[in-house]
Amino acid sequence: MNEMWNTRFKEETFFYGQQVNEVLKEFLLREKPGKILLPGEGEGRNAVYAAKLGWQVTAIDFSEEGKFKAEKLAKQNQVEINYIVQDVSTYEAPSNFYDCIACVFLHMPLDSFFEMIKQLTKSLKPNGKLFIVGFHTTQLAYKSGGPKNIDWLYSQSSFENSLKGFNIINNSSFTTKLNEGEGHLGEAAIHIFEGQKID
Ligand SMILES: C[S@@+](CC[C@H](N)C(=O)[O-])C[C@H]1O[C@@H](n2cnc3c(N)ncnc32)[C@H](O)[C@@H]1O
Repeated sequence: MNEMWNTRFKEETFFYGQQVNEVLKEFLLREKPGKILLPGEGEGRNAVYAAKLGWQVTAIDFSEEGKFKAEKLAKQNQVEINYIVQDVSTYEAPSNFYDCIACVFLHMPLDSFFEMIKQLTKSLKPNGKLFIVGFHTTQLAYKSGGPKNIDWLYSQSSFENSLKGFNIINNSSFTTKLNEGEGHLGEAAIHIFEGQKID
């Protein structure tokens, strides 16, 4: 799987563009910067934006080409990010360390996804924020990107049933027009989860 991502990210152009995801941007602008973990961060567009706002950024992704592009983008923007090349499901995060974990379009089979989130959120400080944006199950009707397998896609009930230990701030879906490189282009069904870790 990571070879697919390396092949995509090897190209000169940024597959998902260089601009932060709009939904994440809106979230970050209302949060106080601290330590943020960005799992599945790809070519670094979100990491660089967060770093420019003053967040201390750790990104994890199993794509070496993603890291190369992300570090180049960080340099161009005169910011520093810590980018770890690793399968995020094997990442042993330091406990009570991050103020925020934000996943942007990180898709995998939902049972693996929620197991990974459960492990990662051990590293969230009490009251820390978990923010997830990705494709809703109804994205199967659109051709704007994302996995073609319904078992990899988000829904309100999957978050409600599988994610415990959070005060839920947002767990909703909407349709929008994406304009994020060639990877996410056109009408799309998006799901957002935002929660605050319970003490
Ligand atoms: C759709 S891209 C999104 C990239 C980035 N978050 C963005 O919004 O531009 C998904 C990313 O997740 C990474 N990824 C998927 N599964 C992963 C895993 N198990 N461990 C680490 N990275 C993973 C891929 O390498 C890819 O960079």
